Amino acid sequence: MTASPIGIGLLGYGTVGSAVDRLLQARQEDVTRVVGAPVEVRRALVRDASAPRDSNPRAGLLTSDFAEIRDDPSITVVAEVMGGIEPTRSWMLELFAAGKSVVTANKQLLARHGAELFAAAEEHGVQLRFEASVCAAIPVVKVLRESMIASEVNAVLGIVNGTTNFMLTAMAKGADYATVLAEAQALGYAEADPTEDVTGGDAAAKVAILASIAFHTRVTIDDVPHEGIDTLDSIDVAFAGDLGYSVKLIGQARRVEQGVVVGVAPTLVPRAHPLSAVDGSFNAVMLRGDAIREVTLVGPGAGGDETASAVIGDLMGVLGTSNSGFLRADGFFRSLPIVPADDVESALYLRLDVRDQPGVLATIASILADDQVSIDSVVQRASDGRAQLVIVTHPAREGAARHAIQRIADLDVCEGTPVVLRVLSAG
Ligand SMILES: NC(=O)c1ccc[n+]([C@@H]2O[C@H](COP(=O)([O-])OP(=O)(O)OC[C@H]3O[C@@H](n4cnc5c(N)ncnc54)[C@H](OP(=O)(O)O)[C@@H]3O)[C@@H](O)[C@H]2O)c1
Repeated sequence: MTASPIGIGLLGYGTVGSAVDRLLQARQEDVTRVVGAPVEVRRALVRDASAPRDSNPRAGLLTSDFAEIRDDPSITVVAEVMGGIEPTRSWMLELFAAGKSVVTANKQLLARHGAELFAAAEEHGVQLRFEASVCAAIPVVKVLRESMIASEVNAVLGIVNGTTNFMLTAMAKGADYATVLAEAQALGYAEADPTEDVTGGDAAAKVAILASIAFHTRVTIDDVPHEGIDTLDSIDVAFAGDLGYSVKLIGQARRVEQGVVVGVAPTLVPRAHPLSAVDGSFNAVMLRGDAIREVTLVGPGAGGDETASAVIGDLMGVLGTSNSGFLRADGFFRSLPIVPADDVESALYLRLDVRDQPGVLATIASILADDQVSIDSVVQRASDGRAQLVIVTHPAREGAARHAIQRIADLDVCEGTPVVLRVLSAG
């Protein structure tokens, strides 16, 4: 005898929501085997239930009344795939209070209000799962929360924004920023308003979530300093290429003695590094720890079906663990301080526009040495009495290096503001 169907609700029936519905139907047989009963989308919330839609929803599925999902006793779990902060946050709290578990794809909401939402889910004895909020199809949340529980992960770094990685890959081949942004938009990688992607805000939300689950502490988006690729000059991508590096928008969370260092910035990645080869719209997350050494997960970090696949994985996770609660929703039992990047060591790339005259390089080297910063490599291109001087340093305390760079910028022979990018170590 087949068990009676389990009802789920969707908040949102756009790119991801409609894909969740479609994939659940297409994979119904597998889903039934895993869960022990068929799973049916009972209701999906949209702004305008009567608007015509390419996704062709069946009659009676769509509603514009949230209460129809919240108050439906046949719906036990809801996928939040509508995005935004409000009313999404309030509705999620109402769903928890109504005894419903929620799975979400909403990184911005979690990176801002995670503490409140996890506490509310726990209070009401329901689950909040969020695999789709970070890197879509790449199961990094599950790996960090479940598979690596005993692994003492001490660094998470990666390429967590596909739009900018697509753009940087094209810039490495000589394209300029404006042209590749237009191309990314035409191909559907970049939103009509790409600000979140190109300024690093999207990656910062993901880093906040990854840092929180890797180190069991609360990190919000406001804790994550971020620079994007909107201020990156293609000349630095070209210089980096000459020196044997790719430029990638790297999000990092590192456990250091004093606490946690987090950040997002365009970063030089040595060609031998596994992240250097991750091109186009793909994402990659590298996990490092004592027991695991290094694990890299690579795959598509966005897209309707890819994100829906992660949402469905979480739905199955909730349905398959109801009454047993495999993991507490709130794994954030530490309170680690956020350590400024200035207090830890990084190698840096500097590009300086200097007068082409004897002694300039020696002066710059000596200023760097005053702050205990040593030079790894130097490239110079000269024309018309001026030189573009590119220096890659050995790792040094970043605050000290930035102090030296300020002194260099103040030299008469130096024009404009030096360009400073971080460099990942090869290992
Ligand atoms: N698309 C991706 O590749 C991707 C990847 C990773 C994560 N995500 C996340 O997944 C979520 C959904 O993204 P999406 O691309 O599917 O967005 P979308 O295509 O714009 O769909 C949003 C859906 O939510 C509904 N909605 C929005 N605000 C609402 C409100 N106030 N009341 C009722 N319904 C509302 C919309 O209704 P109408 O249809 O009536 O407008 C629409 O059906 C977002 O959090 C996004 O960040 C998306």
